[in-house]
Amino acid sequence: MKILVINGPNLNMLGIREPGIYGDQSYAALVRFVEDVCAGKNVECECFQSNHEGDIVDKIQAAYGKVDGIVINPAAYTHTSVAILDALKAVSIPAVEVHLSDVSAREEFRHISYAGMACVKTYAGYGFDGYRMAIEYLIKHYGQ
Ligand code: DQA
Repeated sequence: MKILVINGPNLNMLGIREPGIYGDQSYAALVRFVEDVCAGKNVECECFQSNHEGDIVDKIQAAYGKVDGIVINPAAYTHTSVAILDALKAVSIPAVEVHLSDVSAREEFRHISYAGMACVKTYAGYGFDGYRMAIEYLIKHYGQ
């Protein structure tokens, strides 16, 4: 099974940005965490991060026919991007939405998730562990 893990804008600043909300571990630590989870489950994974909406759309399109599942934290684009929603729908690869923080307990504008409308499941508020839960969900429901 191959899983693509996509992280959106400002997640490359993990460890620096608002540590009270997002924790003190870096993006590199998140990638290591995801790679360790996948290695332990015999899953091939690719981690991709971009601050650019179009690059995320391109990456989702390029995954068509190549990956079995997507884990996506669209970050701020969660709440604005119909383009990412449409890209997820276009490829119809099973996708799980992840947020480090509990977006439902934060500002009102974070309560809407466009990308989430194309996802089979959402984990929010579990920090790095949400990525492990998302990977396990994809393996359980879409693994061979
Ligand atoms: C986030 C939540 C978003 O509202 C925010 O814009 C982010 C990170 C999270 O992981 O908690 O950049 O997706």
